[in-house]
Amino acid sequence: MNPKQKSTILITCSAGLVDFLQQEVEQLGFHPQFPHQTGLEIQGDQLDAMFLNLHLRTAYNVLFLLKQFPCNSPEELYREVSKLPWEQMISPDEYLSVVSRVDAACIDNTMFASLKVKDAIVDRIVQHTGSRPDSGKDKTGVVIHLFWKKNRCWLYLNTSGQKISDRGYRKIPHKAPLRESLAAAIIQATGYDGSQALLCPMCGSGTLPIEAALIASRRAPGLLRTNFGFMHLKYFDDSAWQQMRTAAQKQSKKRGGKAAFKPAPIIATDIDPEAVDAAQKNALTAGVSHLIDFDICDFADTNVPDLYASELQTLESNTSENTASDSGTPVVNGIILMNPEYGSRMGEIEDLKKTYERIGDFFKQKCTGYTGYIFTGNPDLAKEVHLRTRRKIPFFNANIECRLLKYELYSGSQKNRSNLDA
Ligand SMILES: C[S@@+](CC[C@H](N)C(=O)[O-])C[C@H]1O[C@@H](n2cnc3c(N)ncnc32)[C@H](O)[C@@H]1O
Repeated sequence: MNPKQKSTILITCSAGLVDFLQQEVEQLGFHPQFPHQTGLEIQGDQLDAMFLNLHLRTAYNVLFLLKQFPCNSPEELYREVSKLPWEQMISPDEYLSVVSRVDAACIDNTMFASLKVKDAIVDRIVQHTGSRPDSGKDKTGVVIHLFWKKNRCWLYLNTSGQKISDRGYRKIPHKAPLRESLAAAIIQATGYDGSQALLCPMCGSGTLPIEAALIASRRAPGLLRTNFGFMHLKYFDDSAWQQMRTAAQKQSKKRGGKAAFKPAPIIATDIDPEAVDAAQKNALTAGVSHLIDFDICDFADTNVPDLYASELQTLESNTSENTASDSGTPVVNGIILMNPEYGSRMGEIEDLKKTYERIGDFFKQKCTGYTGYIFTGNPDLAKEVHLRTRRKIPFFNANIECRLLKYELYSGSQKNRSNLDA
């Protein structure tokens, strides 16, 4: 098995995120093909797969195609899987798990398909080495994916192991946390790049401000993880991996990394002290707590920095500390991003109506000059905001259809900004 041999790499994501994934993959220098609801493909080798695991924010798994073949029975599946040189890929000391997705008339039991693949791999390793790797459900070692559709099978190495959307920083989840990959896509959809002030009232466990801080500091999310599927392969090239990590760390340090760089303010607040405590701890684990200002308060009392004042201050002091980006660009834009609860029971929804109405008042009265966003799964509640939506960007949160609603909160500060421009 030559890890530099190219094959198809299937990058999966949750439903609705493929456009964001495609943008990321292109920015990393690849040419995505065949985008569909939950993924896309590129051509690459296993080093490319490692690189993608390190850098991608909106993906689930990076799957490297080992083989595809016609298949009409479990016995044929076993025979075809046995032909691959598994003894060159998996040490008998390793731990193996197999995941299958099956849509074929000759088999109605996904677990049986997984068992056949596992047996074929383990039997071949026993034949060549005399001992067998352990196997089970945990995706902490080598992970193999089988897709069996009608009379065709695709066998992939899941180079991620556990989903890369599980960054590992969220030790304390709190209530209704967004998945990290979804939060990253939401931030991407706002156009945030670290040069705008970012306010996240209702921050919960902090997923949105943490993902934003990772983006602002150009910190590769894979730097936070110590375990990936590819690390368990016999031919895992640790020095290549360390080089990739070092390059990613340098890119983040250039941007400022831990010490020097300060993006425009990122402010995260929540009314629940436990949420703020969880968010602060999670930000610390993610290495970005120094980039986020936390506060416990009702969303309407969140400190909203005056963009006009920030600009003046920056222009007057002309120091890099008060600037929004490493290029010295002053803070002229601001984003306010809220993910209120959207409720499921009637009583809850009645209570939430008032909250959404108050969000509209807060936007109107205190956030002029900012671009407002509300991420919600309840369009009726969103109507209570009583502001004109400029855009509705569709998302799914688990199985719930959601929208990221965009509001332009024009007023005086816009005027101030054009005065400065003049
Ligand atoms: C859906 S959760 C946000 C989850 C968050 N995006 C995450 O990933 O963890 C909504 C949050 O709004 C907070 N909240 C509810 N009412 C609030 C209020 N009036 N002011 C501030 N925060 C509030 C709740 O405490 C909760 O943490």
